[in-house]
Amino acid sequence: MGDGWREVDLSSVMPASEAIKKAPKLFGVPTGVEGLDDLFFITVIEDGKPKKVPLGGIPYRAVVNVTGIPDTGKSLLAEQFAVKQASLGYPVAFVTVESPAPFVSQGLLQRANAMGIDWNSVEDNVILIDAASSSRLREDTDVLLDTLAYVIREYDTKNVVIDSITGLFEAREMLARQIVRRIFNFLKKWGQTAILVSQKRSSHEEESAEAAGGYAVSHILDGTIVLSKRVIKSLWEERVFGIPIGDLLRTIRIDGMRLCGHDTRTHLLEITETGLVKVGPPLSEIVRRRREEVKE
Ligand SMILES: Nc1ncnc2c1ncn2[C@@H]1O[C@H](COP(=O)(O)OP(=O)(O)OP(=O)(O)O)[C@@H](O)[C@H]1O
Ligand SMILES: [Mg+2]
Repeated sequence: MGDGWREVDLSSVMPASEAIKKAPKLFGVPTGVEGLDDLFFITVIEDGKPKKVPLGGIPYRAVVNVTGIPDTGKSLLAEQFAVKQASLGYPVAFVTVESPAPFVSQGLLQRANAMGIDWNSVEDNVILIDAASSSRLREDTDVLLDTLAYVIREYDTKNVVIDSITGLFEAREMLARQIVRRIFNFLKKWGQTAILVSQKRSSHEEESAEAAGGYAVSHILDGTIVLSKRVIKSLWEERVFGIPIGDLLRTIRIDGMRLCGHDTRTHLLEITETGLVKVGPPLSEIVRRRREEVKE
């Protein structure tokens, strides 16, 4: 009987047959990033053979970590997701931690214009929570989650963006795991599809998923998208990638996604002149094509 103080938590015990009734439908939520949505897939069995079917977006109700060092396109990706979802009529709660709300709305307007999306269909469907201008929101996770719950309820949002979660544990990195876990559980409870941006330090290995706060982020969330960049330094690279020495090679890679299959290759990432991130071919494909050209 033990010491008589502990109680069994029966509310957490259930057969899989019970749990499956509460499982969300598996389908893709479009990101507004050209080339990204089809990198997620499910495998179905057709005529006894496995067949990959593109999901058409990040999995519904997934909480996805987008990580990278400064200037790799994380905010652009997050804004494109918000604009796309808003334009489809699915409201987005957008917690901005780095940049005050008026600046973010300016960015959203630019993204909408570049994506050819009518701002009228976006402006009232993105609800900004300005944590950049409020230390209470940044420093008190209870206040942040209560505010987020209010917005989700009032505006019936389906999506949440936080740019960035790193800003929520700036001066207390040892609490990173705890804070991220609370946010993750909260988003699951409220059934939101979410993009959480996290910052990597330049000292972290280039293409790893490890963000500031150590293992805080990638192990807790459903999946990670790693954005990176490096300077072209050799003639070989200049020839293969067609990028002049000294210019940037930008890449994107999906580093795990629990709810579905995904492309595991490192792809070229382009930031267009109008300020949109766009997924290009895998690096392996570019090298292969170049080798063939050289042979001919
Ligand atoms: N409107 C635009 N037109 C052209 N290029 C742009 C535009 N907006 C941003 N960029 C380019 O995209 C880069 C990446 O921007 P972004 O803000 O997404 O980086 P980030 O990964 O969020 O960086 P940080 O960690 O500093 O927040 C910018 O530094 C800039 O070079
Ligand atoms: Mg940013």
